[in-house]
Amino acid sequence: MSWLTRLTTLVNQRLGIRLSLEGREDTFRQAVNVRAAALGLTTPEEYVARVSRTGGSEEEFQSLVLLVTNGHTSFFRDLEQLMMWRQVLTQDAPTRRLQVWCAGCSTGEEAYTIAMLCKELGLAVEVLGTDINKASLTIAQHAHYDPWTTRRIPEEYARFLVSAGEQLRVADSVRASVRFQQHNLLHTPPRPAAGQKWDVIFCRNVFIYFPLEEVGHVARWFASALAPDGHLLIGASERLPDLKRWVIQSKGSRHTYQLAAMNDEESHQTEWSLASQLETPRSSPADAPPLSSVAPFLDAPPPLDLRAAPATAMTLPSDEDVEAFSQVNVLIEAKSNHLAVVDVRKFLDAHPNHVPALLTLGCLELAQHRFDDALAAFGAAADADPFLPDTYLFQGITHRKLGNLETARQSLQRALFLAPEFWPASFMLIGVYERLGQHKELTRELRRTLGVLNGGQDTEHLSPGVHRLFYPRADEVREACLIYAEKGAQF
Ligand SMILES: C[S@@+](CC[C@H](N)C(=O)[O-])C[C@H]1O[C@@H](n2cnc3c(N)ncnc32)[C@H](O)[C@@H]1O
Repeated sequence: MSWLTRLTTLVNQRLGIRLSLEGREDTFRQAVNVRAAALGLTTPEEYVARVSRTGGSEEEFQSLVLLVTNGHTSFFRDLEQLMMWRQVLTQDAPTRRLQVWCAGCSTGEEAYTIAMLCKELGLAVEVLGTDINKASLTIAQHAHYDPWTTRRIPEEYARFLVSAGEQLRVADSVRASVRFQQHNLLHTPPRPAAGQKWDVIFCRNVFIYFPLEEVGHVARWFASALAPDGHLLIGASERLPDLKRWVIQSKGSRHTYQLAAMNDEESHQTEWSLASQLETPRSSPADAPPLSSVAPFLDAPPPLDLRAAPATAMTLPSDEDVEAFSQVNVLIEAKSNHLAVVDVRKFLDAHPNHVPALLTLGCLELAQHRFDDALAAFGAAADADPFLPDTYLFQGITHRKLGNLETARQSLQRALFLAPEFWPASFMLIGVYERLGQHKELTRELRRTLGVLNGGQDTEHLSPGVHRLFYPRADEVREACLIYAEKGAQF
């Protein structure tokens, strides 16, 4: 067993957190080096030996986890979602003191934002901010912030911050309604100060660090801790796995979740509920043709239009960069992949976190069967922006090609967790389940793919690169799925 695997097992045993290393091994290695140096050790192996031998203090594991989880946050981080929630509050003004749990609150900005929003509406509120990371909570309690993290605060809320030298301090009236407590989301939820259940739970941008089954686990805790008419708010690109349990209210890409009224039997059903237009099977899946044979087109990388890069791209390219990149596209169209790689790498020297460029590089490497280089590029893209489903799709495709079926499954599931109707990922997953011999899961993904393609929602989640690669093949994919379903899948 590698030291990395030993260490993640130890973290799991000690803290109950299952760290997903996928595409993040370098970050993890760096973190271990930092902690090893802090303890006067020189190699990761020595560090693992030390924490295994001593049983490792919980604090040491937390320091390590802190280095691999991202505590990025700011005041009024997602104004659109907050305004949606504000509308809910104004339409249905609570008569009692509102009890809000801000789970995974990092350094406190979100918990204070919630309190400010309620105060501005004249509502009485109590907010509990929790996080696993003690160091973040100390900052939260201190309530002093650099102006950068307050940059998104709308004018009408500026009065809730007072100047404190070069920093800004949260006004006492707001601080008085917010408290902080350490809590691991995998454990029993905390109770509100008044009442039995939470009126509102915020848990934004935390799920990305959990494997899927853990998200289900946390979501069940939330369901048990939320008042029947309460609201759960998660990040815009996050999804809950057990949708039957929840009623979703949406405005654009922002959602609030409320508990669905359901009987016991229903509450145990956790399958995705995509409508299927399919016939009853005539024979067993074993008779069906291998579906993996319909995806040879994946060898070509998608040409890229930098202007149409996903909104999550880190930097906006200059005209010069766009020009340089159009040359890359010419090379890609001409199938001169090895020359295109040189140009993309040059571009990345100036823009190391440019996600579309990293994805293009990964696809070019993949097309040339340089799988390690492809995975390195996709890993860097995931580090730069962990919320882009495209990255996990390409990681999944690469692992699938390498025969790492279990890792491929995890990557593709991650893509689908971020974008449940991302049919290129569910389509790829069918082939993985086929090779793993998992027919129930295969059937579910076949249904999902057909449900999306039959429903005409086939472009919603596709970024320009993925769109160009997959969209022209949508009919081909749909056809292949239908043949497969007719020949044998069990529905
Ligand atoms: C990206 S921050 C999100 C901050 C804030 N919710 C926001 O959206 O601005 C993710 C936070 O989740 C916390 N976290 C990660 N795993 C956790 C766990 N198992 N229990 C509690 N908090 C956790 C991290 O420590 C980190 O502060």
